[in-house]
Amino acid sequence: MSDLVIDGAVEARANVNIALIKYWGKAPADRPEDKNLPAVPSLSLTLDGLYTVTQVAFDPEADTDRVFLGGVELDAAGTARARVILDRVRALADVAAPFRVDSVNHVPTAAGLASSASSMAALAAASARCAGLDLDAGELSELARLGSGSASRSVFGGWVAWEGRRAHPVAPIDHWDLAVVIAVIGTGPKAIGSRAAMERTARTSPLYPGWVAQAHETFTDALSALERRDFEALVGAMERSTMRMHASALGADPPVLYWQAASVAVLREVERMRADGLACGFTMDAGPNVKVFCAGADVEAVSRRLTPIPGVAHTFVARPGEGVSVRLVNQERP
Ligand code: DP6
Repeated sequence: MSDLVIDGAVEARANVNIALIKYWGKAPADRPEDKNLPAVPSLSLTLDGLYTVTQVAFDPEADTDRVFLGGVELDAAGTARARVILDRVRALADVAAPFRVDSVNHVPTAAGLASSASSMAALAAASARCAGLDLDAGELSELARLGSGSASRSVFGGWVAWEGRRAHPVAPIDHWDLAVVIAVIGTGPKAIGSRAAMERTARTSPLYPGWVAQAHETFTDALSALERRDFEALVGAMERSTMRMHASALGADPPVLYWQAASVAVLREVERMRADGLACGFTMDAGPNVKVFCAGADVEAVSRRLTPIPGVAHTFVARPGEGVSVRLVNQERP
């Protein structure tokens, strides 16, 4: 155990990640430490340049935890999500004092990439170190998972698999020179968030058991394609996972439909690019945006094909990124 950070704060920085093989559905949880255990295994790539920076300090004067995002204090519901992690840290470190959390997201909201993965990974790393816990990356992943399942993967850089209680790295950043072109699709009706949608899917969709039944095979197909650097096999598994996740959501009651017309237009353009010999593959999450994987050298060619599609507001490129990092700030007494 390292020392409690009394006089300063701890700052952590974590990147977002994008799932090729999706986490969609949870195992039953009886105890607080079983929160967000996945019903299916997932595989992701941590992305560079889209991140959250979070500072955590003890706040002995306060009666309760206070959480600020971009300088604005979160309401009770927002704070409750962070408190799942903070309570666990207090229990592990055997401390009682409230925390003050200051977080800034450097993830454009229009990117349609959930910042919950980067923010919960950063919160876990900063609060654990602040409370003097020396957690290894696996333990940190488990802690981050309590805030948001996908955050368990953002603890690590590069290619990351998540099964059970924690994620683990499966290939480093430089394993393969791939990149993602994100097609931002204009806003439609407000989408239901991933947490509520996966819960509704699991509870009401007759297609959900089929989703769970195929997940392990799709995951192992993707892992072996990643190891062999077989692009066609990797994007094949990614597209099966994507389509089957969305199919299970479409079967929910009421149905969950994230796609806009422009989302489908991008999927069609991916087919055409492939027919033209440009290797690429798509994935989609809990929103209308489409993320297109391609070789690092092909990002310009892919962006040129996606940007003019009607309904695509703009595109941007993300490349493989690092895992979470932590540093102490304001250590010296004034
Ligand atoms: C579609 O991690 O946001 O992006 O665990 O309830 O916080 P909670 O859900 P969250 O779900 C992410 C779902 C997804 C697929 C994925 O990232 O694997």
